[in-house]
Amino acid sequence: MSNKRIVSGMRPTGKLHLGHYHGVLSNWLKLQEEYECFFFAADWHSLTTEYDNTSAIKGNTRDMVLDWLAFGIDPEKSVIFEQSLVPQHAELNLILSMITPVSWLERNPTYKEMQENLASKDLQTFGFLGYPVLMCADIIVYKAARVPVGHDQLPHLEITREIARRFNFIYQQEVFPEPEALLTETPKVLGLDGRKMSKSYGNAIFLSETAEETRKKLMSMVTDTQRPRRSDPGEPDRCVAFTLHSLYVPEEKRSEIVSSCRGAQIGCVECKKVLAEYVVETLAPLRARRDELAGQPGLVEDILAEGSRKAAEQAAKTMKDVRDAIKL
Ligand code: TRP
Ligand code: SF4
Repeated sequence: MSNKRIVSGMRPTGKLHLGHYHGVLSNWLKLQEEYECFFFAADWHSLTTEYDNTSAIKGNTRDMVLDWLAFGIDPEKSVIFEQSLVPQHAELNLILSMITPVSWLERNPTYKEMQENLASKDLQTFGFLGYPVLMCADIIVYKAARVPVGHDQLPHLEITREIARRFNFIYQQEVFPEPEALLTETPKVLGLDGRKMSKSYGNAIFLSETAEETRKKLMSMVTDTQRPRRSDPGEPDRCVAFTLHSLYVPEEKRSEIVSSCRGAQIGCVECKKVLAEYVVETLAPLRARRDELAGQPGLVEDILAEGSRKAAEQAAKTMKDVRDAIKL
């Protein structure tokens, strides 16, 4: 495929943790070497659920983008922008909303699921139902060929493809390519309590915290629950902390740990101290970079303004094709 363009967005939920890093971000890092990437903060998407509580969105966007930059997402290589600074997303959303059957949106599994999960919130809104239309606009306004997403976003991407196809069919022009999902298998990063690492579970390790905080958290991480005493043999395959050893501790040291754990020659406290040192050491340069970037006033704002200008330039070209196709 000659089209090497990729679009992906993240809702600004605030500071990023190791789950984000080993999932979406490490994927983005590789992609930016090979493709023409557009990465954006999906702040309008945050409005679909936070419309009555918008005061944190701006700060969350800044925190999230700082983490992107610290992790190595590079404005020299990728277009890094903010959705709400590129009005073409909204314009295309409007046009696509005219051709999108409501039944496609109502049968979207994520729609019902999220309404149930966030039952305390009134999500009986037009915008919440239309979330996949806006997501479609985000992607096809750049005529992107591929979209790196997690499994949870696949239903949305399928709707995107259907809307793009329907537009091309109704207006009898191949304006939009049908974007493909780029699913990359990433390790499921467990949090301190053994559930999936997530900010809302309070079990996450953040890039933006200090080495001391990280050490303290790691010392509280669940291990092998079937090893009640130091003198009992343990099993790394059952150990929650060991999932992080697999990501941070070098192979040689790790196999040493495996055998001393099984032989009850090492205790979990000592073992997690080893882990903590590797994690802290790996994160140190990224943290230093984050601090340095955070100390430059206006830096994130400038990067987002410049990226949004570049994004809008491309989006404007597409909108010209769209207007031609619909003869307006
Ligand atoms: N819906 C995505 C999420 O919740 C965020 C998103 C919005 C997105 N627009 C996008 C992802 C376009 C990829 C492409 O994670
Ligand atoms: Fe896990 Fe290490 Fe304890 Fe073994 S010794 S159970 S690997 S923390």
